[in-house]
Amino acid sequence: MPDKGHTNVNSLEPYWMPFTNNRQFKSAPRMVVSAKDMHYVTDDGRKLLDGASGMWCVNAGHCRDRIVEAIQQEAATLDYAPSFQWGHPKAFELSSRLAALLPGNLDHVFFGNSGSEAVDTALKIALAYHRQNGEATRTRLIGRERGYHGVGIGGTAVGGISSNRKQFGTLMAGIDHLPHTFNLAENAYSRGQPAWGAHLADDLERLVALHDASTIAAVIVEPVAGSTGVLIPPPGYLNRLREICDRHGILLIFDEVITGFGRIGGAFAADYFGVQPDMITMAKGLTNGTVPMSAVGVSSSIYDTFMAGPAGIELFHGYTYSGHPLACAAGLATLDVYEEDGLFERAKSLAPKWEDAIHSLKGLPHVIDLRNIGLVGAVELEPRDGAPGARTFDVLMACYENGMMVRQTGDTIALCPPLIISESQIDEMITILGDAIRATA
Ligand SMILES: Cc1ncc(COP(=O)(O)O)c(C=O)c1O
Repeated sequence: MPDKGHTNVNSLEPYWMPFTNNRQFKSAPRMVVSAKDMHYVTDDGRKLLDGASGMWCVNAGHCRDRIVEAIQQEAATLDYAPSFQWGHPKAFELSSRLAALLPGNLDHVFFGNSGSEAVDTALKIALAYHRQNGEATRTRLIGRERGYHGVGIGGTAVGGISSNRKQFGTLMAGIDHLPHTFNLAENAYSRGQPAWGAHLADDLERLVALHDASTIAAVIVEPVAGSTGVLIPPPGYLNRLREICDRHGILLIFDEVITGFGRIGGAFAADYFGVQPDMITMAKGLTNGTVPMSAVGVSSSIYDTFMAGPAGIELFHGYTYSGHPLACAAGLATLDVYEEDGLFERAKSLAPKWEDAIHSLKGLPHVIDLRNIGLVGAVELEPRDGAPGARTFDVLMACYENGMMVRQTGDTIALCPPLIISESQIDEMITILGDAIRATA
């Protein structure tokens, strides 16, 4: 083997870490080596309370026996099965379980491996659906400012976080964006849904007037925008989007990669807000973060349109690992755990305690907003002059030093613990976070 200069197997250099300040990390690594229930363990043997469900994934807590055993057993039974023109029973079983869980007529499921793939799949299904339906001019996709829909070209295009877009040129044509709903002057310190902002959905009418409905395929939004820093929709906002889409024959896609599987207190945010989309994207909590898997829940009317087409392959799309046996086994076991532990109901019943805990941080140095819904919380800190995100990064580090993992995005600290969290662990989280905010003032 040639000596390439970094033969030390423990070198931190070769791994180009995603969405990470590589140089900072490699100068002071934060390593986790194991996890159980509500905690990670670091390489120096410290327990970290998981305030972020890893990355909004581990809704049932870490290394749950039932899920671990299901994966182990499947790996020894059916390690891999092709998904194009072949099937295996667990993919059908998981699809049926998900179809039963999904709201309304979302009775069909297409599998991918990541949230990004679910988003790109949903966007492609929308385009292909209109073409199949004799409306091939409907090719425009509408996202929302500050939206996050993963990192595929499609998801990047409909996404609305400029730092995630600006490095990648102009591949992303034929897209427009709704305004976001963040407004501190109107909504700071709202408990749950903020009162102001439903009218911002009407901007979709403006986009329809500008582009003409005959050019628009779909609108995609996160019902609660997560990665941008937790933006909660005002009451009526999502209903208005639904009404306008219906009026103009536009498909409505809810990206529930974060909000799916109990995070805000129902199986899906669509249930919680009582608004029926045409497709739902999901990932993360689908397998409790264990094996990469995503899915798109698709309405019967979309599916039936394809099935009424010419004989042959109906959709030229899919992944080598769509419906991977290990992921299906993990997904089935995860759904069992959610059901047996009543975790969606648990998130709902803990939400009032959670809300009080989050809002108890009001008045701490540099806190300018607090937001909450279900078991999601956000602390907005005043940015340091000329250094956006620097203050929240210091808070993340202080939390880490004091035994807790949180998510930092821009000037927001996002909290989204596993749904198994106890009331005393909620108090512990708030104490660690409060101390960290004070310490970094
Ligand atoms: C709403 C939403 N969509 C899509 C994605 C992308 O998922 P993945 O990172 O699995 O590709 C994310 C990830 O956080 C997300 O929050």
